[in-house]
Amino acid sequence: MRALETWAIVVAAGSGERLGADRPKAFVKFGERTLVAASLETFESHDGIDGIIVAVPEGFETEMSLIADDLGAGKIAAAVAGGASRAESVANALACLPESAHFVLVHDAARPLAGEDLIDRVMAGLADGADGVVPALAVTDTVKRLGADGSVAETFDRSTLRAVQTTQGFPVERLRSAIERAGEGLAAATDCASLVETAGGRVICVEGDPRNLKVTTAEDLQRALELAG
Ligand code: CTP
Ligand code: MG
Repeated sequence: MRALETWAIVVAAGSGERLGADRPKAFVKFGERTLVAASLETFESHDGIDGIIVAVPEGFETEMSLIADDLGAGKIAAAVAGGASRAESVANALACLPESAHFVLVHDAARPLAGEDLIDRVMAGLADGADGVVPALAVTDTVKRLGADGSVAETFDRSTLRAVQTTQGFPVERLRSAIERAGEGLAAATDCASLVETAGGRVICVEGDPRNLKVTTAEDLQRALELAG
């Protein structure tokens, strides 16, 4: 019997304001290629991935197909214009998935160093029946919540906290219905798992990877390049 299809969505439609480059963050140079190319290459070469949809800033569709050609990334089925927020970009890409897609892995182009083993762990969580799977790291700083006046209102028990990354995985229908249900609140979601949690889904954590950092600032980009070695 053929395995259920797993598709990847790479969200690359942000502007990269905090990086402050002369182009959208995903299209910034990363070694020989671009930041987005690094993630696309990882999914292209992973045997468990059947196809890829990329969300790009409006007007970057042609640039994306040149990148795909350059990579020889035949799994990239479409490059779609993203939305005003990350979650809207995910929604636009989700609309392009074929009916045959059973699981979806959502990945930030801002994380160029996700490894095959991290993707394997997320896929294993999905195969076990979770509604959502997120790679997570223990939090080493003590985390506090501020009250309305800006002073500390609460200190969390660190042992129960996790910092989560992408790639995050879901059964396609779970994520689709969670997005529909979010309605107006969609734009505020900083990750997909939070939408599935709000919809009552069971989201589990698998081991994240400290190398899988998110490039937000110029310092992060430098650090990622050093790690890529
Ligand atoms: N993203 C997206 N569509 C948006 C906003 C973000 O596809 N409207 C993507 C980004 O391209 C990135 C990921 O979501 O891969 C995480 O977002 P973030 O790191 O915040 O990237 P940017 O929004 O581009 O950066 P900034 O917030 O500094 O402008
Ligand atoms: Mg952003």
